[in-house]
Amino acid sequence: MRELYGVIGDPIAHSMSPLMHNDAFKALHYDADYHAFHVTPDNLEAAVKGMKAIGVSGFNVTIPHKTAIIPYLDEIDPLAEAIGAVNTVVRKGTKWIGYNTDGPGFIQSLKEDWKEDVTNEHVLVVGAGGAAKAIYYALAQSGVKQIDICNRTLEKAIALQQANPFHCQSKAITLQDAEECLAQYSLIVQTTSIGMHPNVHLQPISLKHLNVNAYVADIIYNPFETAFLAEAKRLGANIQNGLGMFIYQGAIAFEKWTGQTPDVKRMKQIVMDKLG
Ligand code: ATR
Repeated sequence: MRELYGVIGDPIAHSMSPLMHNDAFKALHYDADYHAFHVTPDNLEAAVKGMKAIGVSGFNVTIPHKTAIIPYLDEIDPLAEAIGAVNTVVRKGTKWIGYNTDGPGFIQSLKEDWKEDVTNEHVLVVGAGGAAKAIYYALAQSGVKQIDICNRTLEKAIALQQANPFHCQSKAITLQDAEECLAQYSLIVQTTSIGMHPNVHLQPISLKHLNVNAYVADIIYNPFETAFLAEAKRLGANIQNGLGMFIYQGAIAFEKWTGQTPDVKRMKQIVMDKLG
């Protein structure tokens, strides 16, 4: 029987996931469809139960349900549990198992676009929200030894750092401190939503003191190059936007569902064509 996958969120109309996954199913001659389902917070529990009842094989979870879904799942992977957010649900027999592929997706994209071994980097994570947490914990879990966090609200950075269950050296600092001691970082990851439309000219910190040998990543991919990345590029640093993270979070989910490895280049191309 043809399998059914999907993504739940609110709003969901602009999700690129159906395009990406349906094309990957087609390319691998895999008999499945992937749909975007608009699920409001009031309907979350019913939606999760309903999908189990009708035999959905797996699904992605996006804003605003990544944390709220946890009580409705049967098992949670340790990384997703530590992050407190699930973006991928896999059916195993009668159980729903929750994973977080956002952080691992970021790491995979970093390895692909920059370098394989990032364990010895001195990392600065900019921001302390949900996306920062996923990236910070995944970096720490994969063995990166030194990761500092800077945030407008310092208390949130401190809370994030203190809750980290994966061993790494870490400091929570203000945005001003980060700007002043920027030269010591070899990898900088921008995780806030600053720089998205309509505030495309804004950036969370100035990169004036950037080490030009540092690598600078932003999780935003629309616009394709944020003001933050544009400044890094102007200063001579190598950069990457958030498209790779988006593609790889999807590719890792796809592998968990089907056991097959999708063609990541093809997935990236189809999303880029859509973005124009
Ligand atoms: P997400 O889950 O997408 O990461 P979030 O949890 O709302 O979103 O977190 C947003 C991040 O962007 C936070 O680090 C936030 O800083 P605060 O903790 O101080 O709120 C940061 N952020 C949002 N708008 C900002 C702004 N104008 N200047 C600096 N930081 C900002």
